[in-house]
Amino acid sequence: MLRELELLPMWRLRDAGIKMIAGEAACATTPPSTVAQAASPAISPLIQGVHNRGYLPHLKAEDGIYFVTFRLSDSLPEGVLAQLEETSQQERSRAVEKWLDQGHGECLLANAEYAGIVREAIMTGKESEYHLHAWCIMPNHVHLVLEPLPGLSLSEPLQRIKSWSAHEINARAGRSGCLWQRESFDHLIRDDSDLARCCDYVRLNPVRAQLAASSTEYAFCDSFGARNAGEAACATIVPSPIAQAASPASVNNMGWNELKAAIAGCQACSLAKTRTQTVFGVGDEHAEWLFVGEAPGAEEDRKGEPFVGQAGKLLDNMLAAIQLKRGENVYIANVLKCRPPNNRDPHGEEVVHCDPFLKRQVELIKPRLIVALGKFAALSLLGGEQTISAMRGKLYDYHGVPVIVTYHPAYLLRNLPDKAKAWEDLCFARSTMRDLQSAAAASSS
Ligand code: URA
Repeated sequence: MLRELELLPMWRLRDAGIKMIAGEAACATTPPSTVAQAASPAISPLIQGVHNRGYLPHLKAEDGIYFVTFRLSDSLPEGVLAQLEETSQQERSRAVEKWLDQGHGECLLANAEYAGIVREAIMTGKESEYHLHAWCIMPNHVHLVLEPLPGLSLSEPLQRIKSWSAHEINARAGRSGCLWQRESFDHLIRDDSDLARCCDYVRLNPVRAQLAASSTEYAFCDSFGARNAGEAACATIVPSPIAQAASPASVNNMGWNELKAAIAGCQACSLAKTRTQTVFGVGDEHAEWLFVGEAPGAEEDRKGEPFVGQAGKLLDNMLAAIQLKRGENVYIANVLKCRPPNNRDPHGEEVVHCDPFLKRQVELIKPRLIVALGKFAALSLLGGEQTISAMRGKLYDYHGVPVIVTYHPAYLLRNLPDKAKAWEDLCFARSTMRDLQSAAAASSS
C-alpha cells in the first residue's frame, strides 16, 4: 500500500507495535472509549522522530498534516499485492488503485447506513482531535487529509475511527471479525502544493471511480453539496451536463469533430469561466510525433493555438533542430485545454476532467512517440513523483505509446544552461523514433 497512491517516498507503515494494537482495535467490538483507553499507553505518537521535518517550510514543525488511507479487510484479493511485488512502483500503484476503485470485496461502505457510521466516527474527532482538510468514504476504502491538534498523535484518532466504526457496523450488519485491514497508511504532507494535490486526490476519487460526475454530488466526501468552487475549497468541479458528456466513457468513442466540439463547449471545471477560448491542439492529425505541454498561456488563450508565445518560438526551434516542423508529421497539444488564470499551476480536478480529452487525442492521432514537455506534462501523463532530471533519458508508456520526457521550453528560457540537456533529450527522441520506425517496418514486411 505504500506505493498505491504514488506517494512512496513519504509513506510509512506504522511501527510493528502500533500496527498490532491498531489491528486488534480495528477488529474489536469493544466500545470506543474502552479501546482507546486500553490501547493508548502502548501507542507512541507517529510523529516522534521518524519524519524529517526539514521540508515543511510553512507547516508546523512537529505536528504536520497527513494523507491517510485505510481499507476494508476484503478490499484486495489475497495475493494481489504479492503478485504485484515484481512490477514497477507506478504500475503497482495504478493496479492497486484500480482494484480498489473497481470495488473488490463486499464493499460494505456502498451502503449509506454503514458509510454514515464511518462519517460520524470521522466527524466526532473534527476540531477536538484534528483539523480535517478533506475526506472521502469510498465503497471499500477511506481517505482522510487530517492535521492532529497540537500535542495529539495521528494513531489514536485513527484507531478510534476504525474501532468504533467496526464495532457499530458489525453490530448492525450482524457480522463479526475484522472489518478493516489492520494497517492504515499515512503520507506526511510536504507543503502547500502537496496539500492541494492530496485534497484534490481525495475529493476526486468518486469521480475517477465513476461513482459521480462531480465530487459535489457524492454524499460521502467533503465537497458534497458545495454549489461553487469557493465552497468546495480545492475541489472546483461544478456539476453540469457537459461534465457528464465529457466522462471517459463518452469521450472514448468520439471522432475528431465531436471531440473538438466537446472541448470547445466543456464547462466541467471553473477554467471555463476564465478562459477566452479552449485550445484544442494543432498539427498533423496522423503525426508520428506528439509534443505535449502543460496548459495554454495568455497568448495561446487569445489565439486558440498551443505554444504561440515565447515558449512556442523556442519549441519551434527545438523542432527545427531535429528537422521537424510544426504541422508536418508533428502534433502539439496540452494536458489542459483552458488557461489557468495568471498561469497558475493546474489543479488536480482540472487534469482529471481534461485527461480523457488528451487520451482520446492520442488514440485518434496514434503517434509513434510522445514527448512530454516539462514536469507537469510528464507527471500528468505518467503519474508518480519524480523530477524531470530523474525521468530524462528513459522510455515510458502512455496507454501503449512510448513517452520521452524533456524540459519545458518556458523553463529553458529561464535556465539557459539546461538547453544542452534538452538537446540530448531531443537526440534521444530522434534515435528512439528511428528505432520505432525500423521496428514497425520490420514487423510489416
Ligand atoms: N506552455 C504550455 O505548456 N503550453 C502552451 O501552449 C504554452 C505554454
